[in-house]
Amino acid sequence: MIQTEDLMKVYQMGDTEVRALNGASFTIDKGEMVAIMGPSGSGKSTLMSIIGCLDAPTSGKYILDGLSVENMDEAKLAETRGKKIGFVFQQFNLLARTSALENVMLPLTYAGVSGKERHDRAMKALDRVGLSQRTHHAPSELSGGQQQRVAIARALVNEPAILLADEPTGALDSKTSVEIMELFQSLHKENGQTVILVTHDAHVARHTDRIIKLSDGQIISDEVNHNPIKAGAPRVEE
Ligand SMILES: Nc1ncnc2c1ncn2[C@@H]1O[C@H](COP(=O)(O)OP(=O)(O)O)[C@@H](O)[C@H]1O
Ligand SMILES: [Mg+2]
Repeated sequence: MIQTEDLMKVYQMGDTEVRALNGASFTIDKGEMVAIMGPSGSGKSTLMSIIGCLDAPTSGKYILDGLSVENMDEAKLAETRGKKIGFVFQQFNLLARTSALENVMLPLTYAGVSGKERHDRAMKALDRVGLSQRTHHAPSELSGGQQQRVAIARALVNEPAILLADEPTGALDSKTSVEIMELFQSLHKENGQTVILVTHDAHVARHTDRIIKLSDGQIISDEVNHNPIKAGAPRVEE
C-alpha cells in the first residue's frame, strides 16, 4: 500500500524555486489500477519518481507497505525499488542491438539470478506479454507496440507488486495504445499487480478504475471510474 502525506518537491533553479509537487496527499491500495493525468509540468513524472523510490521528496511523508521511504538512503531506496517496483517509460528505454530476451533478462542479471533461471523467467515474461515468437529480435526489428511489450516484460520479470508507467502509450498510435492498456488490465486482473500510469489521453485513462488529476503540483481531483473500458470495446471519440 502507498500512503503519502503532504509531499513536496522543490527544485532550485538559480534564484527561483520550482515547486514540482506542492502538498500531494493520497493513498493507493494494493491491487488498484490508477491513472494520473495533468498538463505538462504539473508534477506527474516527479510524483512517479517519488512513488518509484527513484527520488526522495523535499518534505512530506511516503509510507510504502508500512516502511517510511522519505528517510531512506540511496542504497535502501535502490533495494526497495528492486524488490517492489517495475518501471515502464514512454520511449521504451530498451538497449539497442540487444535481443528482446537479453533486454528482459537484464534486471535478473543485476539481481544475481543464475543463467538458466534467468532465461526461463525472461521467457515466461515475454510469453506473458505475447512475444514468445520474437525473443531473438532486436528493438529495431520490432514495432513500437512490440517494443513496449518487451519493456513491460522487463518490468515484470522481478515480479514487482507495483508497476509504474510514465506515459506508456505516448509514443504509440491509438489502436496500439488500447492494446497496451488491455495488457495492463490483464496483468492487473490476473497477477493482482498495482498499476499506476501517467497519461495525457482521456481514453487511455478510462481503462483504469481511478483517475487522479494534478495541477501545479497539487491533486485537484481524485475520482473512481465506475465504468472502465474493457477489452474489445469500440473507441468512442470525445
Ligand atoms: N530535475 C529538475 N530540475 C529542475 N526542475 C525540474 C526537474 N524536474 C522537473 N522539474 C520541474 O518541475 C515541474 C514538474 O515537472 P514534471 O514532474 O516533469 O511534470 P510532468 O511530468 O507533469 O510534465 C516542471 O516545472 C519542471 O520543469
Ligand atoms: Mg512527465
